Amino acid sequence: MKRFIAALTVTAMVTFGTFGGTGFAQPVEGYKNAGYEAAFDQRVINRINVDYIYNNIDYLQQTPRVAASEEEYAAVQYIKSEFESYGYAADVQAFEFMGFTAPHTVELTVNGDSLSPLPFTYTPSGEVTGELEYAGLGRVGDFDGKNLEGKIALIQRGEISFGDKVFNASRAGAKGVIIFNNTAGNLNGTLGAANDEFVPAVSITQDRGNALVEQLNQGETVTASLTVLGAESGMRTSHNVIASKKPTNKNKDNGKVITVTSHHDSVPGAPGANDNASGTAMVLELARVMKNMPTDTELRFITFGAEELGLIGSRHYVNTLPADELERIEANFNLDMVGSRDAGDLVMRTVNGQANLVTDLAQASSLRLNGEPTPFAQGGSSDHVPFGERGIPAALFIHSPLEPWYHTPEDTIDKISKEKLQDVAQIVGTAVYDYASFDNQGPKPKKQKKQDLPADMYYEESIR
Ligand code: BES
Ligand code: ZN
Repeated sequence: MKRFIAALTVTAMVTFGTFGGTGFAQPVEGYKNAGYEAAFDQRVINRINVDYIYNNIDYLQQTPRVAASEEEYAAVQYIKSEFESYGYAADVQAFEFMGFTAPHTVELTVNGDSLSPLPFTYTPSGEVTGELEYAGLGRVGDFDGKNLEGKIALIQRGEISFGDKVFNASRAGAKGVIIFNNTAGNLNGTLGAANDEFVPAVSITQDRGNALVEQLNQGETVTASLTVLGAESGMRTSHNVIASKKPTNKNKDNGKVITVTSHHDSVPGAPGANDNASGTAMVLELARVMKNMPTDTELRFITFGAEELGLIGSRHYVNTLPADELERIEANFNLDMVGSRDAGDLVMRTVNGQANLVTDLAQASSLRLNGEPTPFAQGGSSDHVPFGERGIPAALFIHSPLEPWYHTPEDTIDKISKEKLQDVAQIVGTAVYDYASFDNQGPKPKKQKKQDLPADMYYEESIR
């Protein structure tokens, strides 16, 4: 029986009913043990030093940390060395993915006018000049009876994928492709994956595309020059960092694992102080805080790479765990964007929008600490998703609404709030400890008076 379940609201207790068989006994006696619980939470809270979180955010946010870049790798080494300085043996898990380096030069001129093109992700580099030929939606049949040899295909967005349009045009002999939007403005698209048969491909606005179609329909010969330089597709390597705190006592190992996670990569051009140096620095601090706490559950602290490219690191982690190892994971607390001064209140997001062990534990702890439970809702594309999709209770901790600096060069340390960091670290730290602390530790709560509590009896010498 976990002590703090006693402090749950009636609603939360009902929710706990859904975890029958996972080791929860019936809640006891309402709030009678409040003093004991407060002191128990205090063991975690006393150890949290928000300046350590802040300073690690400051360190990590000096440069963007794009997946597979040198800067991401430097962050990985830093995170590893921080874990090691707390006494952990940290593992670095490498994984590969198909990457794309965006071109540094993208130009499209038609009869001397520049058309402000955007490159497709996975376009190859190249320089081509040729006659424009309109090929409708770019389906295979749209090229029937047309000679595209050495020409540039002009194609409208819609019906089939951008990748298929470019592939079909290339097969028909085109040396370049321009795709125009089917709604106002330009588009920012991807060809889906690299392909050796692709030719340089860019997008333009609907208006510009229609104007070109008009010219061609009037029988004009239109010559275009397309330049894409610096684009590069290929396999890249990113890394996850994993530090595990095994149960304190082998005889009291409940066999379960709680994961506390973040992503350490950022989008290009963004220092990512809040997204997500904040979550990463908090994972580090919680690892430091919990290092010498007595626990019967394994705590696994993980920072993932390549989240911003589609949750690649966390998917790799979950997909490569043996089934029996995955089975042991009881919960995922995922910290992503947990410190912005300019964002809204803390919310939790779950894959299916339902309460689960993570939201229950964090609602109980936030209620104890702040007098109100942190709300939860569906959604959030972050690293809790691969866990949630495997049926593991998982939640993203994030502030909502998002700050205006999200994914911009302005996501910097000056926008970070120590109050927000402190609040989230306390809620998550005490929730994790609630579950992971020994079930039968110390005297029975009911007999315990607050002033009799052993203040710090389980701690080894303090670290750092
Ligand atoms: N840190 C954000 C998390 C997030 C969740 C932002 C919900 C906004 C709403 C994360 O790094 C992110 O930017 N995620 C991407 C998707 C990801 C799969 C590339 C997003 O939400 O656009
Ligand atoms: Zn992001």
